[in-house]
Amino acid sequence: SAQEIFNSNTNMSGYTYDDLICLPGHINFGVHDVCLSSRFSRKIHLKTPIVSSPMDTVTESNMAIAMALEGGIGVIHTNLSIEAQANEVARVKKYKAGFILDPVCVPPTMTLEQLDTLKSKLGFTGFPVTESGHMGAKLLGLVTKRDTDFIQDRQTRLSAIMTPVKDLVTAEEGIELQTANQLLQKSKKGKLPILTKGGLLVALVARTDIKKNVEFPNATKDPNNKQLLVAAAIGTRQNDQDRVKALVAAGVDAVIIDSSQGDSVFQHQMVKWIKTTFPNVQVVAGNVVTKQQAKHLIECGADALRVGMGIGSICTTQEVCACGRAQASAVYNVAKLAALYDVPILADGGISSPGHIVKALSLGAGAAMCGSLLAGTSETPGEYFYSEDGKRLKRYRGMGSIDAMKKGSDDRYFGTTSAIKVAQGVSGTVQDKGSIHRYIPYLTQGLRHGMQDIGAQSVQQLQSMLQAGQLRFELRSAAAQREGGVHGLHSFERKLFD
Ligand code: XMP
Repeated sequence: SAQEIFNSNTNMSGYTYDDLICLPGHINFGVHDVCLSSRFSRKIHLKTPIVSSPMDTVTESNMAIAMALEGGIGVIHTNLSIEAQANEVARVKKYKAGFILDPVCVPPTMTLEQLDTLKSKLGFTGFPVTESGHMGAKLLGLVTKRDTDFIQDRQTRLSAIMTPVKDLVTAEEGIELQTANQLLQKSKKGKLPILTKGGLLVALVARTDIKKNVEFPNATKDPNNKQLLVAAAIGTRQNDQDRVKALVAAGVDAVIIDSSQGDSVFQHQMVKWIKTTFPNVQVVAGNVVTKQQAKHLIECGADALRVGMGIGSICTTQEVCACGRAQASAVYNVAKLAALYDVPILADGGISSPGHIVKALSLGAGAAMCGSLLAGTSETPGEYFYSEDGKRLKRYRGMGSIDAMKKGSDDRYFGTTSAIKVAQGVSGTVQDKGSIHRYIPYLTQGLRHGMQDIGAQSVQQLQSMLQAGQLRFELRSAAAQREGGVHGLHSFERKLFD
């Protein structure tokens, strides 16, 4: 049992996910009967126990919207000005399925040549033309393929060829999606601009999106079922109280205090301040890896704990600072302590497969927080580019890398007052993984298969089995770990899902 592996008085080793393997149990239910509902914090429940990391190459509003639609939650990173971060939160809260709230707009003075460049960069073909070229300005017209394709002179300005607003079908702010859909069908148009009474563009509804607009039955929403839930990261600097106020005003549901070592007096004060000033906001404290760190933060009022130190794919903390803990040991020990207070924990970092998520949950985590696993999906910030050998890539970097720390995340490593910035992370690239809407279903299906093999029909059952010592694990030798991976082939191709 986990107790025997981790509590042994004679065994002083730290173990991580790959050191362990779960032994199979008895199956008396189908894979689709496996329920993945779990807790992110005391009050926030998730139908998909996956959280996207507060990193500047992982979570901004697009990612947080996609994660919440898929039943998880995203944590907006804190390498942004207070206003910009609050805006990202507001975008998630304002999200309405089917409405594009920030369509790319163009000015009437743009030439067709410039539009061609924009089209090839963004990959879509229709644009609203507004007075200033921005969203929220007066709508002048629309340019679509039909307006632009047969014009020879690519220096022609859009004002000369756009379909002017008087010839467009538009709708007024406040319209329901169903009515918008009917209008599009009746008019046989591809796009429906939504305008204020004064003609300012506030949203766009596209027929192609409506066709794609599948239901999201697992979406993480508030009790009134209206808005998606979103979390945001903060630090422990002087002005972070202002940041919290702005995030709360924008509607944030949880704040995560982002620190590589959470058991600091600065964080204790911050947790207490938030819990007394905004008792309805959930506070996730961390990071921690020991029971003692966890106990301190829970006693300050934390609603959840983030567990992991120096084990992320981009981390160098253990190398540079000699401090941290192997992740399976950290998750098991902290989860055991936190369970006494009914506080969920997030297993943060070091997750590179659905199997690692199964193991994190089997050791007591409420959800897995992932950076590299989700990096490279189309919803993450940043543009794709191609490597020399033709692979489609995106950047992924540690918040403790020098590049990221220069943008503000040095506070995570208590580095704001030092003249020398010491890197605790690296910067790299990851391969394109497609959309979160395809990728999360792959991860959750893998998770369901794993839980079925173990014989647990729900996360709750899995964790009752853990506590009762009924979940069985075995430690794996280096040879056993090799055997558990692909081996003995001359070459192979890995396709993750179909
Ligand atoms: P994965 O393995 O999912 O890890 O890519 C993501 C988690 O790693 C933490 N993080 C860092 N840790 N140096 C560190 O020591 C860094 O530069 C760094 N950046 C992120 C963070 O907890 C994240 O969720």
